[in-house]
Amino acid sequence: MMISPGGIDQKTWASAGAKFAAAKRGFDQLRSTGSVGFVDLGGDKALLAQVEKFAASARGKYDDVVILGIGGSALGPIALRTALRPSGWNMLDDRARDGFPRLHVLDNVDPETIAALLGRLRLKRALFVVTSKSGGTAETMSQFLIVHDRLASAGLEMDEHLVFVTDPKQGALRPLAERLRVPALDIPPNVGGRFSVLTPVGTLPAALIGIDVKSLLAGAAEMAKRCETSDLAANPAGVFAMLQWLADAELRKTIAVFMPYSDPLRDYAAWFVQLWAESLGKKRPDGAFVGSTPVAALGATDQHAQVQLFMEGPPDKTVTFVAVKERSADLEIPSGFSDVKELGYLAGHSLAELIDIEQRATAGALAKRGRPNMTIILDRVDAGHVGQLMMFLEIATAYAGQLYGIDAFDQPGVELGKQFAYALLGRPGADAAKKEWDSLPTSDPRWSV
Ligand code: PA5
Repeated sequence: MMISPGGIDQKTWASAGAKFAAAKRGFDQLRSTGSVGFVDLGGDKALLAQVEKFAASARGKYDDVVILGIGGSALGPIALRTALRPSGWNMLDDRARDGFPRLHVLDNVDPETIAALLGRLRLKRALFVVTSKSGGTAETMSQFLIVHDRLASAGLEMDEHLVFVTDPKQGALRPLAERLRVPALDIPPNVGGRFSVLTPVGTLPAALIGIDVKSLLAGAAEMAKRCETSDLAANPAGVFAMLQWLADAELRKTIAVFMPYSDPLRDYAAWFVQLWAESLGKKRPDGAFVGSTPVAALGATDQHAQVQLFMEGPPDKTVTFVAVKERSADLEIPSGFSDVKELGYLAGHSLAELIDIEQRATAGALAKRGRPNMTIILDRVDAGHVGQLMMFLEIATAYAGQLYGIDAFDQPGVELGKQFAYALLGRPGADAAKKEWDSLPTSDPRWSV
């Protein structure tokens, strides 16, 4: 329904094939130089072997696994846990978790959360996975220093309670791993943070909590293969990227809503938001600022929150729904109170039917109002399909980068803020940033209320 009144017109779509072919050539070129490697992760046996070996050695030893990391080092593991483990995983008892540990992902440096978690963990039965591609991110290094200190104070062996996931050569974590004799798994040099969920960044935590990593990777490899074609109509990632880019560039639909109708995919939407935002929100070489703004929503919950805005607010959005054909559980809605008009019609339907109908009804209503939307239909939320979906959106993001004419794999926009933070924390070498910071206007007390 992206190609319908209010959406992309047939003529524009018909001429999109050539544009896509050029974008794909650009991306293939990046792959052929070896600078971009995420597409091949589904078939990386050596990385899988690292993960399987470590996970097998950890089986039964831990009650809690804690990921120390942020951004691309954290959102993937969260998305995988929510999608592929039973609901409320960390609240289940040991038996219901089949002896696999709970999984906590810090993804921040708010002391309230970290103090609370460290306060309730049994350190003796905890494994900390320090994940950082650069091996120097301030938030992750601070988390690590705190955890290291706690482990040392408790007299625990570092190599029993720490594992690093980082670049094979670059950054501070790699030499630190040797110094502390802590095992370290690799993030390939040509895979950046937000594209790293299918490296040990995501696959190690997944394997530790019993997710079928082989199927996850097989799904990803299958999708990568489907996206090899230059025929736009047969390339799922190409279709998504092209529709999103055309909607933004031609129709000024500058907001891309991503709305799964599935609780297991709730955190997946947050993973996608980071992928799209950090990859595509860029300054083009000609000085133009580009990138559509991704927004996460959840169906049916957001029908009672954001959908009013999507329907009647500014017509500046596309909505991508994710529907699920088969759910792992369903509940029949019982008959009762058939004399009450608001209840009676629900009897005989099931919750799976209800949530599915609500998705289709919302998509139809948006289309009726000329609000472009599309639906990705997943057969079910299992490891294979989640692997497919992740690879699909990663490749789509890379194609969109080509269409926008930007580098989807860097993030220069976060650098200045980092430099200012270094300056304020007194990191050596941050003198220039400190000077720049000091030259900024200070806040005017007249505007403080
Ligand atoms: O996608 C990215 O590159 C970033 O979001 C990083 O993942 C984030 O900044 C953390 O970086 P690192 O893994 O180097 O600690």
